[in-house]
Amino acid sequence: IPVQPFDYVVFGATGDLTRRKLVPALYHRFMDGQFDEQSRIIGASRSKLSDADFRQQVREALEQFVEKDYQDPDTIERFINICSYVPVDASKPAEAGDLGAALRDDPEVVRAFYLAVAPDLFEPIAEYLHKKKLYRRDARVVIEKPLGHDLASSVEINNGVAKIFKEDQVYRIDHYLGKETVQNLLALRFANTLFEPVWNSAHIDHVQLTVAESVGAGTRGYYDESGALRDMIQNHMLQLLCLVAMEPPASDDSDALRDEKLKVLRALRPIANGEVAAKTVRGQYRGVKSETASVAGYQDELPEDKKGSRTETFVALKVEVENWRWAGVPFYMRTGKRMAERVSEICIQFKPIPHSIFDHAEGAPRPNKLIIRLQPDEGVKLTMMIKDPGPGGMRLREVPLNLSFAETFTERTPEAYERLLMDVIRGSQTLFMRRDELEAAWAWIDPIREAWNRSSEPPQTYTAGTWGPTGAVALIERDGRTWYEGPNS
Ligand code: BG6
Repeated sequence: IPVQPFDYVVFGATGDLTRRKLVPALYHRFMDGQFDEQSRIIGASRSKLSDADFRQQVREALEQFVEKDYQDPDTIERFINICSYVPVDASKPAEAGDLGAALRDDPEVVRAFYLAVAPDLFEPIAEYLHKKKLYRRDARVVIEKPLGHDLASSVEINNGVAKIFKEDQVYRIDHYLGKETVQNLLALRFANTLFEPVWNSAHIDHVQLTVAESVGAGTRGYYDESGALRDMIQNHMLQLLCLVAMEPPASDDSDALRDEKLKVLRALRPIANGEVAAKTVRGQYRGVKSETASVAGYQDELPEDKKGSRTETFVALKVEVENWRWAGVPFYMRTGKRMAERVSEICIQFKPIPHSIFDHAEGAPRPNKLIIRLQPDEGVKLTMMIKDPGPGGMRLREVPLNLSFAETFTERTPEAYERLLMDVIRGSQTLFMRRDELEAAWAWIDPIREAWNRSSEPPQTYTAGTWGPTGAVALIERDGRTWYEGPNS
C-alpha cells in the first residue's frame, strides 16, 4: 500500500548507517512502488557536498549494498533524482544551508527527520529545527541507539529530544522489531489459538533466547565503550523477551502493545548484588591460531591504549519475570560475538509429560520444544515425539514439525529498516520503543553493570568460534537444563 508523499531528512547522510541500511531500505520501498517521485529524500550533514556529490554517494551505496538482482538502472536513476543534499551544522545555524527551502510547506507531505548521528547531537539538531521553523507538530523524528549508556544518560537524551518533540512524534528504533520473524512472534501468539492456552508456567518449563553472531567486535570504537550487555541485551534481547512474555494486548494500537511490553520490563526480577555471580556470565573471546584458521582475539583487535579492556563480548543471563504467568519459568538469554555460528533463536521448552507409559520403549519421551528461528533460515519448528516407523517395537524419536519460510514463501523478505522507515511515514509507533520502555530496560540493566564494575573478576575467556565460556554452560546446567543447540542437543 503506497504511503503519503514525504520529505525525509536524513541527518548524518554521509555516515555508515545511511549508506548501509537507510539508502538501500528506501530504495527497495521505492522499487516496490510504496512511494514515488512525489517524495523526497534530503541528505544533511556537516560536509559541504553538492546535490551531485550526494547522489553519487547514494549510487555507490546502492551498488555496494543492494543485491545485484535488484539493481535496476532505470529505478536507480529515478530514485537518485528524488535525493538532494543540504549542508547543515546544527551548532552554527547562521552558516547552515537552507534546509527550509528543500522542505515543502504542505500538510499533505509528511515531514520526517532521521537523526543518524551521535546522541549528543539530537538536542542541538532538534533546537536547530525549531529555531529555523522547520518543526511542525505533525513532524516525526527518528532516533536510534546508543540511546544512553545507563538510565541517567538515557533520561538526559530523552529530555533533550522532548524539549522540542512530543512523545507521539518520537520514533526510537530497535531494528529487531522490524525483522519479519520478530513480528511473526505476534502472529504466532495472537493469530492462533493453539499456543496461548499453554503459554504459561503451568505448561512451559523455561525459555531460551540466543542471539549468536559469528563476526567479531571488530575495531568499532563504540563497542569497547558499550559491551554486549548494552549493545544487545538492553535493547534487542529484552524486546524479544517482552514479545514472548507479554499479555495479549487488546488491540494492535501502538500504546496497547507497548503498555504490555512495559509491564513485562517492570516485572523483571532485579538481579541483586549477591546473585550476580549465579545469574550472569560475562565472556570475552580469545583468538585461535591453527594450521587451518587464524582468528584474532578481542584483545588483539584493540588499539594499544585499550589493551586489557574488560569489555564483555558475550553475556548469558538467567532472567525471571515476576508475575502470575511466568512465576518459576526462567528465561535464559545469551548473546555474543565470534560464536560458533550466526543464529538467533527463541526456544520455548514445554514441561515433561507428567507420566510415561513408555518405560519399556527405546528412547525416553523428551519435552516438546517450540523453536522460533529469527535468522538465518527463518522458520518455526515444533519438536514432537513419534514412534519410529517399523515393526521393531516401540521406539520413540523426536521429530520436528518444520515450517521453513524459504520453502513456504517465494517473496523477498524485506529488511528491518524497510518496514520501520515506512511505519514512520504511516505514523505507526507500534514497532518503536516508547520512552518509558527504554528507561525501564536501563533501570533493570544498570545494577548488573554496576556489580560487574565492582567485581575484581575479569570476564571469562572463550575461544573464538565456540558457544561461549564454560560459565554459560554451568549457568543453565546448575538448573538441570541445557542450551538448545539443534535437534541433537
Ligand atoms: C546492532 C549491534 O544493534 O545489532 C551490533 O550494535 C550487532 O553489534 C547487530 O552486530 C546485530 O544485528 P543483526 O540484524 O545482524 O542481528
